[in-house]
Amino acid sequence: MKSDEITLHRGLQGVYFDRSETTFIDGKQGVLEYRGYNIHDLAEYSTFEETAYLLIHGILPTQAQLDEFDSELKAARELPEKIFDVIDLVKDSHPMDVLRTAVSALASFDPERGDNSPEATIHKGNRLTSQVPGIVMAHHAIRRGKDPVKPSSTLGHAANFLYMLEGNEPSVDAANLMDKDFVLHADHGSNASAFTARTVAGTAADVHGAVTAGIAALSGPSHGGAAENVMQMAKEIGKPENAADYVRDLLSNRQRVMGFGHRVYKAEDPRARHLREGVKNLSEEMGQPEWYQILEGVVDAMKPYARRGIHVNVDFFAGVIYYLNGFPQDLFVPIFAVGRIPGWTIQVVEQLQHNILIRPLLQYTGEHDLDYVPISERG
Ligand SMILES: CC(C)(COP(=O)(O)OP(=O)(O)OC[C@H]1O[C@@H](n2cnc3c(N)ncnc32)[C@H](O)[C@@H]1OP(=O)(O)O)[C@@H](O)C(=O)NCCC(=O)NCCS
Repeated sequence: MKSDEITLHRGLQGVYFDRSETTFIDGKQGVLEYRGYNIHDLAEYSTFEETAYLLIHGILPTQAQLDEFDSELKAARELPEKIFDVIDLVKDSHPMDVLRTAVSALASFDPERGDNSPEATIHKGNRLTSQVPGIVMAHHAIRRGKDPVKPSSTLGHAANFLYMLEGNEPSVDAANLMDKDFVLHADHGSNASAFTARTVAGTAADVHGAVTAGIAALSGPSHGGAAENVMQMAKEIGKPENAADYVRDLLSNRQRVMGFGHRVYKAEDPRARHLREGVKNLSEEMGQPEWYQILEGVVDAMKPYARRGIHVNVDFFAGVIYYLNGFPQDLFVPIFAVGRIPGWTIQVVEQLQHNILIRPLLQYTGEHDLDYVPISERG
């Protein structure tokens, strides 16, 4: 095809590549739905376990179905012993690199290894949902020379995650906020990591491979890293009254304000408001209201940019919540991954169920018909 006949879609922006029954996003109106249920209702009334069930099975569970699913998740929390050795070997790397390595290694220990049926893929994905929090927390313990905290067999998913940080049971409010954060992060259409996971599944590779690749895609700052950068920015701002000048300086140097803007949302990210309330309450409760005030100062300073479709996104408020819960900054992206496993799982299942190799084209812009010169004659 002649180059003037080719239409390039760099970054695949605006390109539909398949159909999905999982997540709906209307970026102009700021709407997000999982399986037809509005994210506002799920954030308000659901739990991570129920939302994960909804994503995986397509319907809200009955109490009996939810109890069974919850037991399946709790039963899968313990990690195979050898995974601790794998984590120990790479413990000095960034937690996302450790998570990627450990998830890849988990494939070798999975009882349904090699089975790519939808049923086995769902079982394996559910096991990963339970195991990933344990990997993140075990690594954090091992790198500090401590023994990993054994997972609780009774606490809910979010409360257990917080519990494994230091072995202290979290307050109900802290656990509920973490739970809400996981609900809000559980899936998000064809973002870079889900698309990567689908591309891997498109070759008929398995869910561990797809999730490993998804973790790699998520680790980059344009995708998962914004919450970490927002926290850094809040620390640099230091006091609420410095926020406006800080933002002005950034923008006049043509730098981006982290936690603002989105490839798909040109209205406010519907997930942000739930975490905004969370930061407000948590920072007041912990006697550190300045964090919320600093963030609000940044939001005020960014108001003129709303006209250009640059609004606050989910990562803007997430970082401060993680910080106030005692997580170091390099665990912020892994926390995003903890919430995202059900989304990656169901997208891999969808991909495998009506599979097609994902193989777009590149427009070649190099040279043609060059003469091959033997190495002895090259100058
Ligand atoms: C998320 C992001 C990568 C989306 O980018 P995108 O859809 O490719 O949009 P573009 O990079 O083309 O930006 C379009 C315009 O908005 C501006 N813009 C986008 N995000 C901005 C931000 N956070 N702060 C200031 N300006 C921003 C760009 O500078 C660009 O302006 P220009 O047209 O004058 O050059 C981008 O908004 C960003 O870098 N945000 C900060 C990081 C972040 O919060 N990421 C988490 C996303 S959930």
